[in-house]
Amino acid sequence: MSTLASFQTIGVVGSGAMGRGIAQLMAQSGVPVRLFDTNPAALASAIAAVAETFAKLAEKGRMTPADAQASTARLSSVDTLQALAGCDLVIEAIVERLDVKQKLFVELEGIVGENAVLATNTSSLSVTAIAAACQRPQRVAGYHFFNPVPLMKVVEVVSGARTGRAAVDQLVTLTQRTGHTPVVAQDMPGFIVNHAGRGYNTEALKALGEGAADVPTIDRVLREQVNFDGQGFKLGPFELMDLTGLDVSHPVMESIYRQFYDEARFRPSALAAQRYAAGLFGRKTREGFYVHADGKQQTPAEPALPTVAALPPVWVAPGPRADRLIEAVAALGATVESNSSPSPQALVLVAPLGGDATSAAAGLPADRVVAIDALFPIAPGQCRRRVLMCTPATQPAYRDAALALFASDGAAVSLLRDSPGFIAQRVLAMIVSIATEIAQQRIASPQDIDMAVRIGLGYPKGPLAMGDALGPAVVLEILNNLHAVTGDPRYRPGGWLRRRAQLGLSLLQED
Ligand SMILES: NC(=O)c1ccc[n+]([C@@H]2O[C@H](COP(=O)([O-])OP(=O)(O)OC[C@H]3O[C@@H](n4cnc5c(N)ncnc54)[C@H](O)[C@@H]3O)[C@@H](O)[C@H]2O)c1
Repeated sequence: MSTLASFQTIGVVGSGAMGRGIAQLMAQSGVPVRLFDTNPAALASAIAAVAETFAKLAEKGRMTPADAQASTARLSSVDTLQALAGCDLVIEAIVERLDVKQKLFVELEGIVGENAVLATNTSSLSVTAIAAACQRPQRVAGYHFFNPVPLMKVVEVVSGARTGRAAVDQLVTLTQRTGHTPVVAQDMPGFIVNHAGRGYNTEALKALGEGAADVPTIDRVLREQVNFDGQGFKLGPFELMDLTGLDVSHPVMESIYRQFYDEARFRPSALAAQRYAAGLFGRKTREGFYVHADGKQQTPAEPALPTVAALPPVWVAPGPRADRLIEAVAALGATVESNSSPSPQALVLVAPLGGDATSAAAGLPADRVVAIDALFPIAPGQCRRRVLMCTPATQPAYRDAALALFASDGAAVSLLRDSPGFIAQRVLAMIVSIATEIAQQRIASPQDIDMAVRIGLGYPKGPLAMGDALGPAVVLEILNNLHAVTGDPRYRPGGWLRRRAQLGLSLLQED
């Protein structure tokens, strides 16, 4: 592999999980790396671990033995910070404390040449604040990798308030040459990925806090009902929080919320705060949203679905999703009434967007109303899971008839308590809403937002492309209705979304 043109020698400070990953990636890409850590044992273990990784890659045939040897030789440990003199880039991956990072950057400025770039791998601190202590803040940038570094192939290059264009451009070029994908972000809390990622967990926690559904139901809905070209989310939000650990995710939720001066869209959950206080962190404490035994998540079985002797006729309320609903119900073999109002026996189906079943039942016999989420296709063969909601007045016989009808082709069915926006609608609308605000604030380009989230969070699509697939006008309607039903400003749609929905433009369209 050729040597990276712009940087001849890279220093990495901090040899923990991130520092060693960054050192590995750079050495593997052909640049000599000097690794430093104040803890000599950590440093020695990092050097040994990276050498072992190269050896294993060679064994598996993913690297030639010569490459493995050369990459190992490119990585050396140094036992003083002074030994980083001569590096034209130093990447810092030490403890996440502003005072400690500022002190390190000031020291580094006295050691490296005047054109050297200084980069920080901070996740949650302000790059601008770290650079503020420096003589030449224009050469300080954020360089935010994800864990594990070699496998997570996206890197945020973060431009602080006084970062120069040259530092950003050089880091972008370096990243491209490592084979990772660079995305450029302005220095705002959470940059792109940790900012855009707020919608998923926070809205799922909000739905849980409202008692809309239990933990496994919310996870199942987001994995199996969400359907972008056949793909839902790989992990439900609670499975994900149990994996990451609530000790990590909850403070991030709180920090982003506070840094944006209590922006309602990021409001964390009192439920999560309580579970955090109780030490229910997830896998690492063997108890979180799920119990974990022998390293395995214990997922309660789904409730059994009722069977009914005979299905009542079905009447579908008019509305934007009525055609989709009539087609599905007919394909499932039910008798669909075509009168302008339901007969006295009819099961009355509604398909609200953003509203709850009770609001959708206005003017209808609420004791026979069942709502279904028709955001994604619901016809037989087109869905894995359907999601229903009853009003508090719905008679059990009509609830059971709807459950039996919608399970009759073998699809799974989830039943929620009456709540606005089912689960998928409200969670997806919040993901899109937050991403459009990131675009509106010019924190990153729409393309970089989608790229960063798709690779960094493993979503089935970038959030703006998700909004386009659902239809910007549909997302706007969901948010407007959530806002109207709840009065909660977290659901107020922003300008980027509203304008593009109104003009019939893609959410990726810049102006
Ligand atoms: N772990 C992640 O998932 C992740 C992801 C992205 C960014 N980050 C950020 O990367 C940085 C490092 O995180 P990590 O998970 O690798 O931490 P870590 O605890 O695994 O490693 C930190 C290392 O830095 C060393 N260190 C501490 N102070 C030092 C100093 N003043 N000079 C030199 N070495 C020092 C420690 O001895 C330790 O070996 C943090 O800023 C963190 O926020 C972490």
